[in-house]
Amino acid sequence: MGRRIIIDTDPGQDDALAILLALASEQALEVAGITTVAGNVQVEQTTVNALRICQLAGRDDLPVHAGCAAPLMRPLHTAEFICGSDGLAGMALPAPRRRANPGHAVNFIVDTLLASDRPLTLCALGPLTNIAMALRLAPGIAGTIDRLVIMGGARDLGNITAAAEFNTFVDPHAAAIVFDAGIPITLFPLSATYQAVASPARLTGFDGSGPVQAQILSMLRRERPGGASLGGGEGHPMHDPCVIAWLLWPDLFEGRDCRVDVETTEGPTVGRTTIDWWGRSGQAPNAHVVGQLDADAMFLRMADAVRTLDVAPTPIRQVT
Ligand code: BDR
Ligand code: CA
Repeated sequence: MGRRIIIDTDPGQDDALAILLALASEQALEVAGITTVAGNVQVEQTTVNALRICQLAGRDDLPVHAGCAAPLMRPLHTAEFICGSDGLAGMALPAPRRRANPGHAVNFIVDTLLASDRPLTLCALGPLTNIAMALRLAPGIAGTIDRLVIMGGARDLGNITAAAEFNTFVDPHAAAIVFDAGIPITLFPLSATYQAVASPARLTGFDGSGPVQAQILSMLRRERPGGASLGGGEGHPMHDPCVIAWLLWPDLFEGRDCRVDVETTEGPTVGRTTIDWWGRSGQAPNAHVVGQLDADAMFLRMADAVRTLDVAPTPIRQVT
């Protein structure tokens, strides 16, 4: 029986690859559902995108619940300048055949955690608004989460401001709540995910022979709006797939336990994560922070995994 996960996400191209990787890994990961949040684009669009990605993978049976439309305290900042107006620039996916499931994402997270007969892992690929709301609504869920794996924060420079990474910048108050909740956390900050750049050499494993790989290749080869100035250099950084890859192949990653604090005060450093890599604060660690990864191996394994969505297409599974 695989690890049971919920994917909380704001697709987003790198979110899309992360979701496809999870859906291609059914032996290891049982996806209980996808919850969407405002981030890269508005939540209406991240929800449509989650449905489009499920459809591409033949998984119209998978619950998709729409979540929070705005951060807890701040106005929403989106990233169309990177993701395109529909959030999935580079992919050409048809409109979804179905709508999102009824019920708010926050309720789905709480209900699924409380009803699950085995521990559940949360994968957070966007701003942490839904997860913070779930913790406020039902604090008892903290004890039912075996691990929360987060893409967010930065050990050094940010990508949306000089100080902050996009996900923690969009909802720093939510991030502060989550890091304070006493949940076992694995964190992928930018210093780790910028190692996972989709360079031309790393794309050779994707042969483009089926519709899923063709969409992935088209997305990964699209022009980079920010150019090398936004980090990555040779290709698009695949931040969010690191979260799923860590669950599948922990041997590819190294990190250490650290104290992580999030800046919530408005100003030039809002959303900055202070990651106490050298343990200077004397405070107890609240996250395992990934420092290094073997990106060449990760891309090879991702290509092998997602190929299965094309090679052995499952009949389209729909809710009956
Ligand atoms: C993060 O921000 C989003 O734009 C990406 O999907 C990723 O989750 C990287 O800073
Ligand atoms: Ca994301």
